[in-house]
Amino acid sequence: MNITHDILPWSHPDFRRNPYPWYARLQRDYPLYQENEHTYIISRYEDYIKYVKHPAMSMVEPDWVKPHNWHVFLDTILFYDPPKHTTTRRHTNKWFTPKLVAEWVKHTISVTEEALNRIEPDGYIEAHHHICVVPTHITMCRVLGVIEDEIELATLNSLKIVGMQTPAATQADKDRARDGFEWLFAKCKAMINEKRENPGNGLLDAMLTLEASGDMTYNEVLQTLVLFYFSGAPNPAYLLASILEHFAREPHLFELYRENPEVRQAMINEFIRLNPPEQSFTRYPTEDIEIRGVTIPAGSCIRFMTAAANRDETVFKRPNQFDHTRPQEASQHVSFGVGVHACAGQVISRAEVQASLDVIAQRFKRIELAEEPVTMNDDRIRNYITLPLIFK
Ligand code: HEM
Repeated sequence: MNITHDILPWSHPDFRRNPYPWYARLQRDYPLYQENEHTYIISRYEDYIKYVKHPAMSMVEPDWVKPHNWHVFLDTILFYDPPKHTTTRRHTNKWFTPKLVAEWVKHTISVTEEALNRIEPDGYIEAHHHICVVPTHITMCRVLGVIEDEIELATLNSLKIVGMQTPAATQADKDRARDGFEWLFAKCKAMINEKRENPGNGLLDAMLTLEASGDMTYNEVLQTLVLFYFSGAPNPAYLLASILEHFAREPHLFELYRENPEVRQAMINEFIRLNPPEQSFTRYPTEDIEIRGVTIPAGSCIRFMTAAANRDETVFKRPNQFDHTRPQEASQHVSFGVGVHACAGQVISRAEVQASLDVIAQRFKRIELAEEPVTMNDDRIRNYITLPLIFK
């Protein structure tokens, strides 16, 4: 591809479709790139791993970062630093141990089987919603112990809130995010009220017990509920959809998956390297920090480009190619982040994706694209809107 636009043309359609040629140039020519007065970008794998773990890298935004829509999560682990982060994260971590996840994915399997039963006689199904979103959303609702209704609205409003995280967000993106948050918070407040009337044994019940004992505030419970309720589907669904699209475009990969159960985990891991749903995240150093000979002042913004690090050719040979046989040291991608804030949903996401693919592999021999998928991508998040498939 001939890349003639700016160094990082965040809103250009070519960049949004396939940012990788730009990331490769960034890595090669501008390994530490100062994008504007406050923001620096790290794209090489080595720097990413080293500096994201640096104790001065804070989630707490300095004053120059204007209040923005995502500040509705200020009372969650997303914005806490250790030690508060450590104690708070324990409350939810214990709900996602490998042992419990094995129970949760039984729900993913049964809901996926129901979806596959509804495939039309010619094999057609809008796979993104029915196979990727609904089973993962319902699984998370069952972990939380909350109602599973209004899935379309939950999906639509989750999509609205992610679109304002890019530096290229317009006022319209921000207004949409405000509407999305309003819906999600109203929904979750209603679920808390309902739960107080009719207690159960889900993660929300556990959080309400912690509220009663003074270990969580009401705001922490509400914001954490919104965070997990909306996180349940979009990223695992993106990942699953991207794998199904690979299988449709490269049938030999589906065949490999179907016929070789022992390589399935390695294949999924390689797909996650190639298709990270979260393309980047930010940190704010609390002290001056020197990176590649440049002193970055305390309070700057450092953007860690996950998607670029995952294709750093000094670590991942022929980085744009699928290769599930990479040696151990070259399979450690950073799609789930690194360090104390690494993804709380990593174990369940991997398990859900494998559970769904295994059910599909058991029932079908071929997957074809019925139409071109529709996506909504930016430099922070990638999403499918539709993925029309034919299963044979
Ligand atoms: C393929 C699926 C997923 C991917 C690729 C993914 C990716 C990420 C990444 C990169 C981070 C780190 C952000 C940072 O360091 O600033 C993160 C954090 C987080 N993720 Fe995920 N995520 C996925 C699924 C989920 C799911 C299903 C849940 C819900 C259980 C979830 C909940 C969280 C939470 C709560 C955090 C914040 C952790 C903290 O700050 O300590 N994620 N995720």
